[in-house]
Amino acid sequence: MSLNDHGRPHGSTDSHVLVIGHLGMLGRDLMKQLERNGLKGLGLDLPDVDITNGDQVRRILVDRRPAVVVNCAGYTAVDKAESEPGPAFAINRDGPGNLADACRSAGASLIHISTDYVFDGRADRPYVEEDPVNPLGVYARSKWEGEEIVRKRLPEHLIVRTAWMFGVQGGNFVKTILRLSEEREELKVVCDQVGCPTWSMDLAGALVALATRILKGYTPIAWGTYHFCGAGKVSWHGFAREIVEEGRRHRALKVKNILPIPTTDYPTPAARPLWSVLDCRKIAGTFGIVPPSWRIGLEKVVRGIYLGEEV
Ligand SMILES: NC(=O)c1ccc[n+]([C@@H]2O[C@H](COP(=O)([O-])OP(=O)(O)OC[C@H]3O[C@@H](n4cnc5c(N)ncnc54)[C@H](OP(=O)(O)O)[C@@H]3O)[C@@H](O)[C@H]2O)c1
Repeated sequence: MSLNDHGRPHGSTDSHVLVIGHLGMLGRDLMKQLERNGLKGLGLDLPDVDITNGDQVRRILVDRRPAVVVNCAGYTAVDKAESEPGPAFAINRDGPGNLADACRSAGASLIHISTDYVFDGRADRPYVEEDPVNPLGVYARSKWEGEEIVRKRLPEHLIVRTAWMFGVQGGNFVKTILRLSEEREELKVVCDQVGCPTWSMDLAGALVALATRILKGYTPIAWGTYHFCGAGKVSWHGFAREIVEEGRRHRALKVKNILPIPTTDYPTPAARPLWSVLDCRKIAGTFGIVPPSWRIGLEKVVRGIYLGEEV
C-alpha cells in the first residue's frame, strides 16, 4: 500500500476534514459543500474550540486525527481591530500559529484563509501571490503575520487569499445594501475602491477541491499561497448598483438614487486598499480551479435571501 506525505494510505476512508470556525459565513458554506461532495466534515467553533488556546487545539487535533484542517476562523471586524489589536493578533496571528503546530503534531495539512488586505492597493494590475505586501491596518497586519507564522511552522499548508466575500449567511455588503435599499431613497457608496466580490459558496467549493486533492494524495501537492476571488472587477458603488438591480427582481425597493462618493467622504478607522484585484491564474494553472463570475453568485444569494431558496 502506498502512503501519502503524512504516512496515511492514499484516499483512506477514515480521512476527514476539520473545519475550524464552521459557524461563520465561509465555515457554514464549507460544511455544506463538504456534504454535497460526499466528504466527511467535522465543524468546530467557539466555545468548543478557541484557536488562541494552543494546548486545547493540539489536544483536539491529536484526538480527532483529521487529515486536513481548514481554518475559517478569524477576527474579521476590520474597523474594530484598530482599537482592539490584542484580540485581532491573538486570533489572526497566534491562532493560525497554534493550528500549524497542532497540525504538525497530528500529521495533518492546513488550509488557511487570508485576505487581499495584505496589499496596500497601489498596484496598477491584478496582484499575484508573490507581490510585495504592505498591510494598511491592524486587521491587515494581523492577517499577514498569520500567513507568515503558518509558512514558518508547517510546510504542508495552503494559504488561500480571498476578497470582498458575500453570502446568504452572516453579515456582508450584499445584505447591508438590500436592507438600506428597503429603508432609504438615497444611498452613498464609495466608488474609488475596486475589487473582486467572492461568493462564499464558490470559495467553499474551491476549498473542497483542494482538500480532496490532499485527501486522495495521488500527486505531490504544490503547497504555498494562492489567490481565489470572483471573476470580474467592480467598485463598491458598481457592486451596490448590481445588488439593487438583482434585488428589484424580487422585491419593490425604496431606493431611488445610488450616489458615487470618494473614500475621503466615507472615513473609516481602518484604511482599505483602493485596488483589491487578485490575479487567480496560479490556482487555475496548478489545481484547475477557475473562479466563476461573482454575478452568478450574486443572483443566487439574492434569491436565497429573498425567496429562501437553498443555494
Ligand atoms: N468576509 C470577507 O469579506 C473576507 C475577505 C477576505 C478574507 N476573509 C477571511 O476569510 C475567513 C472567513 O471569514 P468570514 O467572513 O467567514 O468570518 P466570520 O463570518 O467572521 O466567521 C469567523 C468565525 O470564526 C469564529 N472565531 C472567532 N474567534 C475564534 C477563536 N478564537 N477560535 C475559534 N473560532 C473563532 C467566529 O466566532 P464568533 O462569531 O463567535 O466570534 C466565527 O464563527 C477569515 O479568515 C477572514 O479573514 C474574509
